[in-house]
Amino acid sequence: MNAIPEPGQVPAVKAEHLRKLYPVGGAFLRAPRSFIHAVDDVSFTVEDGKSLGLVGESGCGKTTTAKMVVKLIEPTSGEIQVRDSGGRAVSLSDLDGRATKRFRRSAQMIYQDPYESLNPRRTVLDTIAEPLVVQGMGTFAEREERVMSMMAQVGLTPVRNYLLRFPHELSGGQRQRVAIARALILAPKIVVADEPTSMLDVSVRSNIIQLMLDMRDRLGATYLYITHDVAVARYMCDQIAVMYLGKIVEMGSTEEILRDPVHPYTQALISAVPVPDPEQRKSSIAVKGGVARPIDPLPRCRFYDRCPAATSVCEESDHPSLSARNGGRMVACYNR
Ligand SMILES: Nc1ncnc2c1ncn2[C@@H]1O[C@H](COP(=O)(O)OP(=O)(O)O)[C@@H](O)[C@H]1O
Ligand code: SF4
Ligand SMILES: [Mg+2]
Repeated sequence: MNAIPEPGQVPAVKAEHLRKLYPVGGAFLRAPRSFIHAVDDVSFTVEDGKSLGLVGESGCGKTTTAKMVVKLIEPTSGEIQVRDSGGRAVSLSDLDGRATKRFRRSAQMIYQDPYESLNPRRTVLDTIAEPLVVQGMGTFAEREERVMSMMAQVGLTPVRNYLLRFPHELSGGQRQRVAIARALILAPKIVVADEPTSMLDVSVRSNIIQLMLDMRDRLGATYLYITHDVAVARYMCDQIAVMYLGKIVEMGSTEEILRDPVHPYTQALISAVPVPDPEQRKSSIAVKGGVARPIDPLPRCRFYDRCPAATSVCEESDHPSLSARNGGRMVACYNR
């Protein structure tokens, strides 16, 4: 039998061989013939209180991974373990109804689109108080007080001006502050933020990123931060995992990956980020085309069609597995 690990040794989130396949085609009573490999054998670990960035273009499987981590969707196969309040690892698939409700209190997701994620018929007060009501916490007056304190923390001030407003009376940035307040009101242990600034005006993005950083420090929560923008990951994440068509292609410390990207896809993502200092500007690495839907992917490197460094081995062999490089870096590439 395994010894019970000491609290602190168990990571906050551990995903092992996660897969999510979506059937396509297939008529009534007939099995589907094809599958979208939205997430295909993904493993990662996030240590307690740290933040992992999932980085990649649209369609790479980031949101699907995030939803599995907060148990909004079930994996086709593989496992997610989280650290429970006693410091032990528990598998999300083993949680019964009550344990799932407890887990939902401790793991919250912030969505990309603050226009869609808020109920248009609910006031700011009702929206932010909702998780407290669902969990049966406090009297109305106690909940109102907690909501007001949370609103002040996320900068929705003067609080009284916003308390009874409806979403259509708020700007995009204010709506995202409401969504963040709702997600954080139960002081979650795990926060999954799915591109929370990508739909906002550039002018309010940095305010929201700063708010997320402040709240992270205040809560000491573990973050899974999803973004297609490497520059945002630089601020938010200790580690990053670069995803391409359902696979992690490179993973390691944010600092090291940004300084010295190894995988051709990571190099292309990073070279696309504008650098203010022209001396430091690297020549942009062009990758052909865009992200296709990974329907029944061929047994070859997923990046083959777009890779500037591809050779015959990349086409003739299965997708390369992640292997360790210097400094704890993991890279999936035959030629790097
Ligand atoms: N519910 C679904 N049904 C079918 N296909 C889906 C579903 N959700 C996501 N996909 C597909 O899975 C792939 C990954 O999607 P997603 O996780 O949303 O990527 P990202 O968040 O990186 O943009 C895409 O090809 C997408 O079209
Ligand atoms: S394995 Fe080949 S095709 Fe894939 S990223 Fe590496 S060089 Fe490019
Ligand atoms: Mg997404």
